[in-house]
Amino acid sequence: MYRRESAGVAVDDSILGDVPNAGEILRAEKLRKSFHSGSQEIVPLDGVGLSVSRGEMIAVVGPSGAGKSTLLHLLAALDTPTSGAVYFAGNSLHSFGEIELADFRNRAVGFVWQRHHLLPDFTAAENVAMPLLIMGKTAGQALRAAADWLAKVGLAGREKQRAAELSGGEQQRVAIARALVNNPLLLLADEPTGDLDERSAEIIFELMQRLHRSHHLTSIIATHNLSLARRTDRVLSLEHGKLMPGAEALAGAAIGAAQTAGAGALTQGGRG
Ligand SMILES: Nc1ncnc2c1ncn2[C@@H]1O[C@H](COP(=O)(O)OP(=O)(O)O)[C@@H](O)[C@H]1O
Ligand SMILES: [Mg+2]
Repeated sequence: MYRRESAGVAVDDSILGDVPNAGEILRAEKLRKSFHSGSQEIVPLDGVGLSVSRGEMIAVVGPSGAGKSTLLHLLAALDTPTSGAVYFAGNSLHSFGEIELADFRNRAVGFVWQRHHLLPDFTAAENVAMPLLIMGKTAGQALRAAADWLAKVGLAGREKQRAAELSGGEQQRVAIARALVNNPLLLLADEPTGDLDERSAEIIFELMQRLHRSHHLTSIIATHNLSLARRTDRVLSLEHGKLMPGAEALAGAAIGAAQTAGAGALTQGGRG
């Protein structure tokens, strides 16, 4: 079903081809993740259940250390759960072999980090082109697609600028373009506005909302920003290892935002 032809280039669309246009696209069942820190066991996720419909934009809020990043990493197959399962279009990620997992990470998911994780000495276009080069596209194809995507995020004409020379908000636009250049179905963003000032955060959030709609994405955004979270379709709160809907979520986000503001002032940006 999944195969690769010569030069490691994926040629089979079956991971993405089986996905229905509506209904559930992503599901988490009884997700548990524990870490060992010395003699201590940390359990950020302790029975998380989640069903995400195609086209939804969901905010995951919760205090720092609640497990938001851990959850996004499991949903993106960047890490594996201690127990429980993640299903993409009805298929357990656990059942995927190495090639399918790589395809899932590279083509089904676009991931945006709080710190953009761009290669600072490479140009904006080279950073955006990177996932396509990894997929085996030619440099010409990849750079053309990168230029198109830079235009979509409002950075037309900035292709040749080094990533390190861009502002924080511009770097995050490049990171969004890089996340979406492979036309993934899922956009997972881990506090994408966490390092930005209020105005840049607003611009980045609006950009993500616009691209979410225009590209029929399914988006999950971890954020401390309560007012941005409220503008998604659904807010979920991660607390004590569980995901909860509703009013508690908004209260949790307010506490988290206050904590982040405090930590940011002390550490110039806080943790990623
Ligand atoms: N690789 C790891 N090893 C040990 N502990 C970890 C690891 N990753 C995360 N943790 C711990 O798990 C908890 C949840 O972390 P995280 O998912 O980063 O929370 P959040 O993103 O909500 O701030 C924290 O206590 C963190 O220290
Ligand atoms: Mg985090």
